Amino acid sequence: MKMRAAVLERFGEPLVVQEVELAEPRAGEVLVRLVACGVCHTDLYTASGADPSGYAPAVLGHEGAGVVERVGEGVSSVSEGDHVVTLFSPQCRECIHCRDERTNLCLAIREEQNEGHLPDGSTRISRDGEEVRHFMGCSTFAEYTVMPEIALAKINPEAPFEHACLFACGLSTGLGAAINTAAVRAGSTCAVFGAGMVGLGAVAGCRLQGAERIICVDLSAERLELARGQGATDLLEGGEGTVERILEMTGGFGADYTFEATGSVAVMRQALEAARMGWGLCTVAGVAGKGETLDVIPRLLITGRRVAGSSFGGVKGRDQVPVLVDRYLAGEIDVAPFLSHRIGLDEVNRGFELMEAQDGIRSVIELS
Ligand SMILES: NC(=O)c1ccc[n+]([C@@H]2O[C@H](COP(=O)([O-])OP(=O)(O)OC[C@H]3O[C@@H](n4cnc5c(N)ncnc54)[C@H](O)[C@@H]3O)[C@@H](O)[C@H]2O)c1
Ligand SMILES: [Zn+2]
Ligand SMILES: [Zn+2]
Repeated sequence: MKMRAAVLERFGEPLVVQEVELAEPRAGEVLVRLVACGVCHTDLYTASGADPSGYAPAVLGHEGAGVVERVGEGVSSVSEGDHVVTLFSPQCRECIHCRDERTNLCLAIREEQNEGHLPDGSTRISRDGEEVRHFMGCSTFAEYTVMPEIALAKINPEAPFEHACLFACGLSTGLGAAINTAAVRAGSTCAVFGAGMVGLGAVAGCRLQGAERIICVDLSAERLELARGQGATDLLEGGEGTVERILEMTGGFGADYTFEATGSVAVMRQALEAARMGWGLCTVAGVAGKGETLDVIPRLLITGRRVAGSSFGGVKGRDQVPVLVDRYLAGEIDVAPFLSHRIGLDEVNRGFELMEAQDGIRSVIELS
């Protein structure tokens, strides 16, 4: 079938919205009609050429939500008409990682996905016979996509797509960092560095876990106000003296849990240094630049602080994204403030501009 999609033709140039060909889903695959898709930093990171593992031509986008249109042979967990959220981090439920509660890093299709192929090593997207690659296994800047069944979370159909799509990446990453990776204990003190989609999700996750105090640090007063709306109790402007301020605010000890959601290695260091002696856990969610390293004073570790990395918030997508969406529908998570701009597919490059200007938290592309 023919469909419209935003194609990355050349790194550093705007995406080109055009008609491409999408083939039928094969065994284990699903055709999804996309309804909404968030614009995320990772899309821009790849489009800019900064990502060393990027490839082109490819249809970008990975924060999608839509409706199952058709399923390929052997697909049993979703059927026509189901509402789904796309998962760049799949869950096969069979690999050694999927069967272990300690990680969400499914091993099933990593290599093919990194190459921009579906699990059988080919693409369903093409243009005049030339293959166009899939991005993060999703390619959701498009009217339709074909994805493996293991990369789709079936959600409650009552969830509006424009909110549901945010659970495909940043929001679940932040929520999960607090709920899964850190498993914040009730009554504790948390400090969240960064109040973008991920940091705000972490603030909400700390609140859901029953944290008593949630300090949020950002450079933008506007974003700190959004953090207050998600449950932050103390707001701090970031900078050089942030660690000292947090130590002062916590009787000299530091926070029980700290979260880094900026992508800056300097801030990662601050987050570790602001974690409490004895048991403070620093969860790193931000993605640092290629080649950058985190500077840690080993004594901080000996005296009981720990650092943990978190990919997609440790969320096992097919099992847990539907639960998070249900918690949103139950009124526990306020998603509306994150949706700043609704744009059409033709305006995808404006979505990047808004993101670069830090205008709002998320632009969402309305696809149908
Ligand atoms: N681990 C994962 O699976 C995963 C998933 C999605 C995104 N990410 C990464 O998480 C990070 C955050 O993503 P986002 O969408 O929220 O980004 P964002 O750019 O919207 O938010 C980052 C925030 O950090 C703030 N900030 C910058 N410097 C700061 C400082 N010195 N002190 C305090 N705050 C500071 C900015 O003002 C901004 O509000 C990025 O690095 C992104 O690549 C990771
Ligand atoms: Zn993303
Ligand atoms: Zn797996």
